[in-house]
Amino acid sequence: MSAPADFGVRATAMLEALAAITAEPGRLTRLYLTPEHRRAADLAALWMRKAGLVVREDALGTVRGRLEAPGVPRRTLLIGSHIDTVIDAGRFDGMLGVVAAILAADDLRRRAVALPFAVEVCAFGDEEGVRFPTTLLGSAAIAGVLDPADLDRADADGVSVRSALLAYGCDPDAVAAARIPPEEAVGYLEVHIEQGPVLEREDCPLGVVTAIAGATRGVVTITGKAGHAGTVPMSLRRDALAAASELVLANEAIGRAGTADELVATVGRLAVRPGAVNVVPGAVELSFDVRAASDPPRRAALAALRAAAEGIAERRGVAIDVAVTHDRDTAACSPAIVAVLGEAVGSLGLPVRRLMSGAGHDGQAMALATGIGMIFVRCRGGISHNPAEYATPEDIGLAVAALVRAVEGLAEKERERR
Ligand code: GLV
Ligand code: MN
Ligand code: MN
Repeated sequence: MSAPADFGVRATAMLEALAAITAEPGRLTRLYLTPEHRRAADLAALWMRKAGLVVREDALGTVRGRLEAPGVPRRTLLIGSHIDTVIDAGRFDGMLGVVAAILAADDLRRRAVALPFAVEVCAFGDEEGVRFPTTLLGSAAIAGVLDPADLDRADADGVSVRSALLAYGCDPDAVAAARIPPEEAVGYLEVHIEQGPVLEREDCPLGVVTAIAGATRGVVTITGKAGHAGTVPMSLRRDALAAASELVLANEAIGRAGTADELVATVGRLAVRPGAVNVVPGAVELSFDVRAASDPPRRAALAALRAAAEGIAERRGVAIDVAVTHDRDTAACSPAIVAVLGEAVGSLGLPVRRLMSGAGHDGQAMALATGIGMIFVRCRGGISHNPAEYATPEDIGLAVAALVRAVEGLAEKERERR
């Protein structure tokens, strides 16, 4: 195997190249099915080909590079992460896992390691869910759990996922061909920056994830009545933004009150119509995102949010509609894969710190079809979804080395299984 330091240097150069592909000069923004996504996907495909993988792009735009294992039954180990970003993103969230998977596959091929399964590297395009009110479409298609109604969801400009896929060069009617039958899947692995402070605080370069927190996201539409800011008396107003403000604070209070299992509740986006200085706001659309380490507190929070919305609507004479657009329960990692990842990390002379993921990942969808496991990489200051996000080349190199060892470890298990 290449030295971890060598992996780290190569990965860092690749991450820099990806970070230059953005919609906005000076900051990194790369949303699903945009021209920037196309350029990043093409670069990932080029790297996969150079690593000796056979590359295709599936119906959802996921770049998939296969390292075949000649003469073995059709079983596949999937390894991947995403190349879409949030707005004004860091350069590691997602891209690190794609680059790590390519380097690991490259190393396995160069050394001609005989594997009892094919390895398929996946570069997903819709993990962040920033452009469309839905997320994890690429991994849901592979897992065979994609809801076809999600293809009709539209972005802020009214463009549906289906028409964006067509414009991107994909065939949205070929979703079924993206699926991997569960009996053919060995598992799904992902390397990801931790996005939190635990590993740094405990001086551990790497961590092994035990579960991914469940998440519910949605859109609240508040309809009041637009009117003249100078003439409509305060007592007669049905101000949608004032109602939305109450709901934002109610949502925050729900998150704060729910100490169970690290409940968090966020409103990250607000659209006010008509949005003029001299018009009483007639309508507001706001996003919500609720997460917890286990499912009951998240469900209770959602019920509390609906109840708060009903109360506000009644008191203020506005209509409030709460629509859920994404709902995934907490996904446990496979104990067998967690054990293999722990051995891989330990074999590098590193402590094995197990931890939960508060952030969402494609593994949540993949877990509906196969066993999943994740390696976390120490994150400076725990900062993520922020351009200050950072992981050292040394830690990244260790993560790639651990990934290679984990693939070899799973290969041993697969041979025992036969
Ligand atoms: C993805 O980064 C998410 O957890 O929102
Ligand atoms: Mn991510
Ligand atoms: Mn993210």
